[in-house]
Amino acid sequence: MISLKKETGKDFIILNLTDPQLSDEEWAEGHKNGKILVKTVTELIRRVKPDLITVTGDLAWAGCYESYERLANLLDSFEIPWAPVWGNHDNQDGPEGLERVVQGYLKHKYCVYERGEAALGNGNYVICIEEAGKPVEGLIMMDTHDRISYVNEQGETKEAWALLIPEQVEWYKKQVQELKSLGCNDTTIMLHIPIFAYKEAFEAAYDGKFEQGKTGPQDYMLKNCWKEDYKDSVGFQFENVGCSAINDRVIDTVVEMGSTKHIIAGHEHVNNWMITYKGVRLVYGLKTGAGCYWTPYLNGGTVLRVTAQGVENVYHEYVHFGGGE
Ligand SMILES: [Fe+2]
Repeated sequence: MISLKKETGKDFIILNLTDPQLSDEEWAEGHKNGKILVKTVTELIRRVKPDLITVTGDLAWAGCYESYERLANLLDSFEIPWAPVWGNHDNQDGPEGLERVVQGYLKHKYCVYERGEAALGNGNYVICIEEAGKPVEGLIMMDTHDRISYVNEQGETKEAWALLIPEQVEWYKKQVQELKSLGCNDTTIMLHIPIFAYKEAFEAAYDGKFEQGKTGPQDYMLKNCWKEDYKDSVGFQFENVGCSAINDRVIDTVVEMGSTKHIIAGHEHVNNWMITYKGVRLVYGLKTGAGCYWTPYLNGGTVLRVTAQGVENVYHEYVHFGGGE
């Protein structure tokens, strides 16, 4: 468990970045996408003044070791602790490829990271935020792997996005219990591939009045497209939830444990909604930069404000540049 100190009487601010995902070429001098990423992160840090930066996966394309290193150097340059979890692209070169990235990252002064048990992936760990020696918030960081094969109802072998394995869910329960025993009953799960409940939540909350993928962010932002019981939802969905085809039922464990109030995921680049589902705020982190595919309207990061009671609120911080960039 990693401990970070929160000053008494002052909020602890977490800035979450997600899916920066540049190639080595995009980091080369003068490349537009490298410049967009550096400008976005720099602007976010100027505005938000975070105490911790988290990155919810797909930090670069698999095998682009230079890109991983450049991103780590950028984050280290702000002299603020930063903590990653890994996404499908980070895992795509297999455990050895990811371990090479991890070894590089652990050499960075401000990188806070623990590998955790190897059987669960790379990077299942907890960051505990403490005020006056008492934990007030636990960030449960989890590796969501890459892809899995499964057999569908027709007996065909298919590929799907990976999901948290049962041993990880058991590990999660243990972490929550340990934090509870220390007096902390407010936790946030941070991962890349959303849990299955994201799909259920959108289906439950969305009133169907806007055709998905047809309206642009500029059109929906002022409109309300949420059903009566979900009026505190914000944002929208421009691509389907990329959770696993297998229902992980993780939400049931989360509800049963009664500790996690927020889940922050990445993976989708043009979804930015937050929906409270079964009492848990499910959040898509706002994508950071132009890597892979993006829309300049949904560029930035996501802020978590931690008080002595845990995470008090979560909001997106948008970074828009003139000319759509
Ligand atoms: Fe992804």
